[in-house]
Amino acid sequence: MLTGVPSIFAPMSPPSQTSPQTPPEATPGGWSGRFDEPVAEIVKRFTASIPFDHRLALHDIAGSLAHARMLAACSIIDAQDLADIERGMAQIRADIEAGRFAWSLDLEDVHFNIERRLTELVGDAGKRLHTGRSRNDQVATDVRLYTRAACDEILALLGRLERALLDLAEAHAETILPGFTHLQVAMPVTLGHHLLAYVEMFARDHERFVDCRRRVNRSPLGAAALAGTTFPIDREMTAHALGFEAVCRNSLDAVSDRDFVIEFLNAATITMMHLSRLSEELILWMSPRFGFIDIADRFCTGSSIMPQKKNPDVAELVRGKIARVQGHWVALVTLMKGQPLTYNKDNQEDKEPLFDAVDTLVQTLIIYADMVGGIRVKADRMREAAREGFATATDLADYLVRKGVPFRDAHEAVARAVKAAESAGVDLADLTLEQLRAFSPLIEADVFACLTLEGSVAARNHLGGTAPERVRAEIALARERLSRGAADTTSRGA
Ligand code: ARG
Repeated sequence: MLTGVPSIFAPMSPPSQTSPQTPPEATPGGWSGRFDEPVAEIVKRFTASIPFDHRLALHDIAGSLAHARMLAACSIIDAQDLADIERGMAQIRADIEAGRFAWSLDLEDVHFNIERRLTELVGDAGKRLHTGRSRNDQVATDVRLYTRAACDEILALLGRLERALLDLAEAHAETILPGFTHLQVAMPVTLGHHLLAYVEMFARDHERFVDCRRRVNRSPLGAAALAGTTFPIDREMTAHALGFEAVCRNSLDAVSDRDFVIEFLNAATITMMHLSRLSEELILWMSPRFGFIDIADRFCTGSSIMPQKKNPDVAELVRGKIARVQGHWVALVTLMKGQPLTYNKDNQEDKEPLFDAVDTLVQTLIIYADMVGGIRVKADRMREAAREGFATATDLADYLVRKGVPFRDAHEAVARAVKAAESAGVDLADLTLEQLRAFSPLIEADVFACLTLEGSVAARNHLGGTAPERVRAEIALARERLSRGAADTTSRGA
């Protein structure tokens, strides 16, 4: 027989104390009557979700109130029952918000905990609440409401990060740094343009969460355990009350589907991947070898042994934190794979990965927008680096093409010029006209305009190009998109 609880179990950590609020007679599910002995202590701990699903409590109450109002509207419970349920739920909600609700492991999960307390407070009306519903459609509803709220918070935070990047891009629409391919100096680009590349990535992430939200925002309530219910319920009424855009149209799918969580985690993983890439650039740029930027002290840490160190820990952690979010996405795909219809207890494992992914992404986005606002750009170092790598070689080739030289021949002539400049230890722009003409007699004095960094970036003045003029136009468009997007988000259902 199993006695006691092995010490390797971590203590539970719901918001308040964890002792049973009342001696557990029968669980609200009422299955004790068909069991000959109580569930083993270790099994109780193993199967309980209350240590983590208490986070769904306010969504659970919202779902229960919508369900109770529908039951009353459909004459399945009477007006007095509804009034009692509303009164009891108001007190439970206040107790949870004040942190004085006593969560009990004996009551397994958030749904049973709240239902039991309701019955303690209002009697039989509390016992009637579960008419025409099951924990299966109840938990699916709660997880959808939670995920929808997470989408909305993330959308707002993505907007905030995009704005921070736009501010920095605007201040540096003309600042020039080397653009890299293979991490080798390629062509000069403006810092504004470089930062706008990330704005594009986060704008796509924004779209992904908006799109994901549409599929999250469908109501499973009324599917009951799996097959629907014999009561004359109104599923559209509960869906509307909870701000869902649609009703899940198959009861079996409604209680078993978690692909909306997988989609959410996929969008979260891609966003974290973008943040990881940006982090890597900030880390490189802050290294003295680059020396392109300084990150404000409040986002850095020192070393316990090397007094000179200032480490970009936040960026490094964010670069690494994609690992856990991606892991959660993989976990959920694996969890769902091979599950037969309909609800299986496996699905209880959806919550911790989802919660942790949301916490990670939300914290990361908050801190990141602030950190971007605290970046100091060392424009001189960027410029110096752009001048060191023959970044305008392609401009010289294009110049020769405009004079009638076939591109491949121009490419070869410039390659030889670069080699000569390299052995002389100078940039292309430092060669004299006479020296340059040795590589092509078509080169004239006007060549120097295109060999300057400013001339190089200004010449790329087409849609998607790096010219400062284009950068400013794109910033204006992005700001307009964000102000429209923000309005869209706030006008959506609660
Ligand atoms: N705690 C459960 C979960 O998270 C709630 C649903 C339980 N349903 C059931 N039939 N055991 O999935």
